Amino acid sequence: MKGIILHGGHGTRLRPLTHTGPKQLLPIANKPMSQYCLEALKEAGITDIAIIVGGLGATKVQEYYGSGERFGVKISYIQQDQPRGISHAVRLCKDFVGDQKFVVILGDNIIKEHISEYARNFQQSDADASILLCEVSNPTAFGIAEVKDGQIIKIMEKPENPRSNLAVTGIYFLTPTIFDIIDRLKPSWRNELEITDALQMILDEKYKITYYMVTDYWKDTGTPNDILHANKVILESIEPYFHGIKELNVTITGKVMVGENTIIKSNSKIIGPVIIGKNCVIHPETRIGPNTSIGDNSKISKCDIENSIIMPNCNIETNIKIRDSIIAFNSEIISNPKNNDNKIFLLGEGTKISL
Ligand code: G1P
Repeated sequence: MKGIILHGGHGTRLRPLTHTGPKQLLPIANKPMSQYCLEALKEAGITDIAIIVGGLGATKVQEYYGSGERFGVKISYIQQDQPRGISHAVRLCKDFVGDQKFVVILGDNIIKEHISEYARNFQQSDADASILLCEVSNPTAFGIAEVKDGQIIKIMEKPENPRSNLAVTGIYFLTPTIFDIIDRLKPSWRNELEITDALQMILDEKYKITYYMVTDYWKDTGTPNDILHANKVILESIEPYFHGIKELNVTITGKVMVGENTIIKSNSKIIGPVIIGKNCVIHPETRIGPNTSIGDNSKISKCDIENSIIMPNCNIETNIKIRDSIIAFNSEIISNPKNNDNKIFLLGEGTKISL
C-alpha cells in the first residue's frame, strides 16, 4: 500500500501564521502537524509516501522532510500548482500509485488512534474505498455521510441541512478505481474537485464503500482554536520526560516534557501538560501551563503562559499573562526598555492582539 499526504492549500483562517509557511508545518506539541500523519502511515507499515505540495510553503516542506530517510520512510514530492481540491490532488498521484491500494491523509488532520488496523482490513477487503467517520457537533463544516443499516447511502460536502452528524474525516482508503471517477468530476461551487463528490460517484456507480467510526480524538485544525485544542489533547498523550536542568525551588506538576539543555531556573512553576523543547531558558518567577508548548531555543521570563503555543526561537520577557495564544517562530515580546507605559509594536499583516 502507498501513502499520500496532502500538504497544499492557503490556510487562510490561520493567517498571519500561514503567511510564511504552510499550516501543516505549524507545530502541535512541538512537532509539525503533518508529521503525525507521516508517523501514522509508517506505523501502519506504509513507507512509500508522496507529499503533495503547493504554494508558498512547498520548499519548506521539502526542507523539513527531505528524502524521508530521517523518518524511516521514502518520500516523493508532487507539485499541485493551484489548490483545486482534494480530488485534484489525488489525481496527480496516478503514476505514483500504479495499481496499488493507497491511503490519503490530509496533512491538517490530527487523529489519535492508529490507522494500521483500518489499513490492514482495507488491504484484505474487496472494497473500492473506505472512509473514517466521526461524530461532530458542527456538521455544516464538513463532508457528511448518511448511513443506513451499516451502509453509506449519501455523501455531501458541507451540506446546509445535514442529514447526519457523521463527518467524513480526512483519511481515505482508496484504490485506483478513483482516478477514472475523478476524471469525470465537475468542479464544485467553491471551484474545487471535491473528494466527497468522487466518493458519492463511487456510491452512484455501485462500487463498494465501507466505513469505520472514529471514536477517539480527531480534529481538522482549520482555526487557531482547533490547533490549541489539538495541542492540549496531544500533550496529554505524551509520556513525560525530563532531559534538561532544574534549579532549586522549581515546581513541576502533571505531565511535563523537557528537552536537552533546557534550563528551568529557580522559583518557576511548570504545570503539565507542558512540553518545552531543547536549549530553552525558563527564567525565575515564570509560570508555564497547563496545555502549553514552548519550542526549541526560546527564552521565557517573568510571564505566566497558559493554553498556548510558543514556537521556536522566541523571546518573551515581560510580566504579563498570556492565554490562548499562538506565537510564531522568532517573535519577541519584551518590556519597553524605557520603562514607560508606551507599547511598541512591529506587527505582520493580519496580526491579532488583545490587550
Ligand atoms: C475537507 C473535505 C471535507 C472533510 C474535511 C476533513 O474539507 O472537503 O469533506 O470533511 O476536509 O478535514 P476542507 O478542509 O477542504 O474544508
